[in-house]
Amino acid sequence: MDCHWRFVEDRLFHIYQCFYQQLLFIYNMSDQTRKRKSESVDETPLKSNTSSETDGVRHGSYHQYYEFRSEDSRPKYIEKCLPELLKLIDKHQEGKDIYLLDVGCNSGKLTRELFEKLKNVCPEQQIQVLGVDIDQELVEKATADHGSQFLEFAHADISEVSSSKETNQIERYMLKKDIKRFDFLCCFSVLMYIHLNHGDDGLMRVLDYVCSHTELLVLELQGWKKYRDHARRMRKLGAGEYDHYSQLTWKGSNGFLEEQISDYVVSRGFTVISNTEEKNEFNRDVVIYARNKS
Ligand SMILES: C[S@@+](CC[C@H](N)C(=O)[O-])C[C@H]1O[C@@H](n2cnc3c(N)ncnc32)[C@H](O)[C@@H]1O
Repeated sequence: MDCHWRFVEDRLFHIYQCFYQQLLFIYNMSDQTRKRKSESVDETPLKSNTSSETDGVRHGSYHQYYEFRSEDSRPKYIEKCLPELLKLIDKHQEGKDIYLLDVGCNSGKLTRELFEKLKNVCPEQQIQVLGVDIDQELVEKATADHGSQFLEFAHADISEVSSSKETNQIERYMLKKDIKRFDFLCCFSVLMYIHLNHGDDGLMRVLDYVCSHTELLVLELQGWKKYRDHARRMRKLGAGEYDHYSQLTWKGSNGFLEEQISDYVVSRGFTVISNTEEKNEFNRDVVIYARNKS
C-alpha cells in the first residue's frame, strides 16, 4: 500500500514538474518577444553585408522599416496634442495654412499619417507637408505611395543642409510656399544617426537648424543603449567604428543622453510642452517643444 502511494506521489510530482517547465518555457518565449520588440526595434534583419546595405544601416535607411514598426502609437499621440498645440501657435482658425516638415521620413508612412491627423483635426485648413530623407530610393517610394500636391517628399541630408549655405530642397520649398518657418518640425528616430555620423558638433548644428526653422519641434530620441547596439551592429557588418562614437560627450544611459539633447534644445529658446506619459512600443519618448514667445 505504502509503495503504491509513493508511486502515485512520484507520478503527481513528475506531472507537476512537467507542467511547471512548460509554463516557464511559455513565459520565457513571450518575454523574449516583448524584449525583442522594445529593444531591437528599428533593426530590420540583415541578409548580406553589401556596401549599399552597410550604408543603409549607417544612416538607418531601412527599406522595410514599417514592416517592422507596424504598431505605431505616435500619430495618435500627436493627434491628441494637436488642439492645444495649434492654439499655442495661433493656427487653430479657419483660413490659416499649417506647415509640417518631417526629417528622416523614410518611405513616408508616418509622414502620411501625420498629414491625415492634421486634416482630421483641422478640416477647414490647408495642410502642407514636406518629408525629407537622405535616401533617394526611399524618397521615390514615398512620393509614389503617398505624394500629392499637399504632401511632398524631397531628397535632403539634414546634416549637409545645416552646415552649407547652398540652396537646398528645404529652403526651396519654403521659398515656394513663402514661409519663414514651419509650424511643426519632426525628427522621429533620426538624430542618433546624425550624432553617430557627425559627432556632438554635427548634432548641435542640426539642432540649431531645426530650432531656427520651426515653431514646434517634435523629437523622438534613441537612448544610449540603442547607440551601443547600433555601433556593435556596424562592427558585426564589418563596417568598422563610427568615426565619432568614442568621442561623444553627449552620452549616458537611463535618459542621461536624452536629457543633454533636451537641455540644448531648451537653451535655443524652446520649452517642453508635452511628453508621452509612457515610453512607446519602441521604448522611446516623444517630446514636443514650443518656441518661447519673445
Ligand atoms: C530609423 S528611420 C526612422 C523613420 C521615421 N522617421 C520614423 O520614425 O518612422 C531613420 C530615417 O532617417 C533617415 N536619415 C538618416 N540620416 C539622415 C540625414 N542626415 N538626413 C535625412 N534623413 C536621414 C534614414 O534614411 C531613415 O529613413
